[in-house]
Amino acid sequence: MNAKKKYLILGSGGQLGMEWCAWLEKQGAKYRGLTRKELDITCLDALETLLDLQKPDVVVNCAAYTKVDQAEDEQQMAVQVNQRGPGLLARCCENSPEKPLLVHYSTDYVFPGRLADRSRWPDGYPIDAPAEPVNWYGQTKWKGEEEVRAACANHLILRVSWLCGSHGNNFVHTMLRLAGERDHLKVVADQYGCPSFTEPVTRISSDLADSGETGTFHVSSNGETSWYDFAKAILRGRKVRIDPITTAEWPTRAARPAWSRLDITALADVSRTRILPWQEDLDLLLRQIS
Ligand SMILES: NC(=O)c1ccc[n+]([C@@H]2O[C@H](COP(=O)([O-])OP(=O)(O)OC[C@H]3O[C@@H](n4cnc5c(N)ncnc54)[C@H](OP(=O)(O)O)[C@@H]3O)[C@@H](O)[C@H]2O)c1
Repeated sequence: MNAKKKYLILGSGGQLGMEWCAWLEKQGAKYRGLTRKELDITCLDALETLLDLQKPDVVVNCAAYTKVDQAEDEQQMAVQVNQRGPGLLARCCENSPEKPLLVHYSTDYVFPGRLADRSRWPDGYPIDAPAEPVNWYGQTKWKGEEEVRAACANHLILRVSWLCGSHGNNFVHTMLRLAGERDHLKVVADQYGCPSFTEPVTRISSDLADSGETGTFHVSSNGETSWYDFAKAILRGRKVRIDPITTAEWPTRAARPAWSRLDITALADVSRTRILPWQEDLDLLLRQIS
């Protein structure tokens, strides 16, 4: 990594933000991480002042409204954080004399997630597949992408899926916790995708930022699984029964895509980091957690 560059990490209290700060700390890089309390990305004055004072080379936006079900009821809040905030940030980066690279994260939920799309795109949704989010969170993330693309030329938009890591809340932590509390779990078996893990996502993002790549990329591990098979892999060797259930048996406030694998071919072509099968990335995470 280019140790001379200065990084600003926004949303540094979230799982990806914490991973970014830990990675930059380990690299001995110059960085400043800001939690929501320290910087609200929906506040234009605060963004302008920050960029003016810090003069970063790279701004990494890990801030997001990620409560997928709650977003259906708090629609304006989700719009502010996932769409307007990134738009303001993009304009501030573009208008700043240093023109820092803006690294912004998005999601597999921008796509329609139809199981039938799998036969058309067996390796996952291509980057330029039409967006058609099935829930409000996905809609606000898609609009956020559009605002970033329109306002700031020097950007990387990185779509990740099923994000898990050692920090914060995610499916791996939830399964481990529930397995400690119950002897029987039910997990949805008819939704498919591929996990991405915060450590490789951070390493790959940092490589892309160093290499001068711009534009939109998909970033996940290799392969495909269901939540049920993912849960079985997380809890293998543990004395807990896991039963497969259908989406209909687990109704949620917000609709979920049935299949939302991301095609990572474009990333594999440019990435200096080898992209591992999700099972290997999961093993690395489980070893880290234990
Ligand atoms: N988690 C997933 O499965 C997943 C999947 C696909 C894509 N993504 C995307 O990946 C990125 C990182 O997600 P994550 O899992 O790290 O999310 P996360 O753990 O929920 O972290 C998001 C952080 O953003 C902060 N935040 C919320 N509103 C803010 C504001 N107005 N200003 C500044 N910070 C604010 C939150 O603070 P509070 O906690 O105080 O609200 C939280 O610390 C996001 O763009 C997300 O949409 C995530």
